[in-house]
Amino acid sequence: MSVHTDVKKVTTNTLQKMKQTGEKISMITAYDYSFARIFDAAGIDVILVGDSASNVMAGHETTLPITLDQMIYHASSVLRAVNRSFVVVDLPFGSYQSNSKEALASAIRIMKETGAHAVKVEGGEEILESVKRILAAGVPVMGHLGLTPQSIYKFGTYTVRAKEEAEAEKLKKDAHILEDAGCFGLVLEKIPALLAKEVSESLHIPTIGIGAGKHCDGQVLVMHDLLGINTEFKPRFLRRYLDIHEQTTAAIQQYIHDVKSRSFPNEQEQY
Ligand code: KIV
Repeated sequence: MSVHTDVKKVTTNTLQKMKQTGEKISMITAYDYSFARIFDAAGIDVILVGDSASNVMAGHETTLPITLDQMIYHASSVLRAVNRSFVVVDLPFGSYQSNSKEALASAIRIMKETGAHAVKVEGGEEILESVKRILAAGVPVMGHLGLTPQSIYKFGTYTVRAKEEAEAEKLKKDAHILEDAGCFGLVLEKIPALLAKEVSESLHIPTIGIGAGKHCDGQVLVMHDLLGINTEFKPRFLRRYLDIHEQTTAAIQQYIHDVKSRSFPNEQEQY
């Protein structure tokens, strides 16, 4: 395993080089200072301040309710923790779709008020003007195709996207439109592995998959899923590396027991 810990700070150039040399890119979501500090020190390449904060931090059913101000709060907390990782922040639903001027204003707020390194937007051709305008201001943009959760009410379901020819063709076209516009990378969410392979091989920019198979140039997972904080969410693509839910429950039950039984605090734990 080669990990780019020799790199002082991961940049879009680092990610491009990793694509060229075949080194896979590791990416995880984070929403607060404490976890971001652990992930950065552990050597993660990219931290995504995802609008999944709406689900896992605020308890909403979808990503739609989270606001630009709330994303800025999460992102600025993450940025205060990070020394090495490249930090991408989601533009939330409603902050970039109506017109390119509003999209640029939202991106500028993210960059100015959080210290983020890039923004991520969902969609292809339909948001091209916004993507171009943000890029023209010098802000790196990451695309996101396939299952785009901000469009969940259009899809009606969280199942695999682009299984049908027409949707797969549109996804391939959109991927090239975003690359040609100047995006530095692309998240591919929940699409067939063979389609993700074809897209990844045909692009010069790196693809980061979530539920898109092993041929993407990198992988991203939501930290709450990877660490086992959410136990109800069990999609096929998820590999769980910890069971924080179980371990935390046991620790809290032990604490409750120690308080009630008067064994905490003991003589050494008081002044
Ligand atoms: O918001 C998010 O966490 C994301 C990832 C699922 C890629 O966009």
